Amino acid sequence: MHSQTRKETSCLVLSFSKQISHYCSYLYGYTMAHKRFNKWEMPHIEHGKPTKWNWLVLYPDGLTLGSHTDIGAYTLLVAKHGIEIEDEVQIGSHCAIYSYSTIDGKAGKVVLKKNCRVGTHSSVMPGVTIGENSIVGAHSFVIKDVPPNTTVVGVPAKPIKKLNNL
Ligand SMILES: CC(C)(COP(=O)(O)OP(=O)(O)OC[C@H]1O[C@@H](n2cnc3c(N)ncnc32)[C@H](O)[C@@H]1OP(=O)(O)O)[C@@H](O)C(=O)NCCC(=O)NCCS
Repeated sequence: MHSQTRKETSCLVLSFSKQISHYCSYLYGYTMAHKRFNKWEMPHIEHGKPTKWNWLVLYPDGLTLGSHTDIGAYTLLVAKHGIEIEDEVQIGSHCAIYSYSTIDGKAGKVVLKKNCRVGTHSSVMPGVTIGENSIVGAHSFVIKDVPPNTTVVGVPAKPIKKLNNL
């Protein structure tokens, strides 16, 4: 085969397999979220009061919550400057999502894209977007955007792997 044609073919195969793996990770999250909840319902949220599941929101007017989301007990969402949580997002217990951080005066909307997951005891700082299907490891401190389909861990959180197959 001509080397140019070979290059083009392998590019096509690579792009096709990327699309398949992206679809697989989407399907995995969708299936798991829908398995966990036979009957997902939008929680009742009041400023500074624990929800039925014992997570807490400050400034709930700034929060957009997608369906089949799962937020663990003792997680705090400070939505003063906006928090957008898309469908099928999972947040572990004891996390903190800050759109406003009084210690260093940082402020900015936080976006958790569809089907991303945040491990227990992690903090997400103002202005950060966590990409679709990405995973934040337990006990991480996220100060920068996380690209889609990426696992990040640590303080501060750094990428350790791409989610090629789940
Ligand atoms: C991040 C995570 C998804 C990675 O899982 P994984 O893909 O199976 O990765 P591995 O366990 O093979 O770990 C890969 C590397 O990352 C490190 N690592 C894994 N999780 C880490 C974390 N949370 N913080 C720091 N480093 C971590 C491992 O030590 C390993 O390092 P090495 O290659 O130097 O040995 C998982 O460890 C995690 O933190 N899950 C969150 C679970 C959770 O919070 N559950 C409760 C809420 S439902």
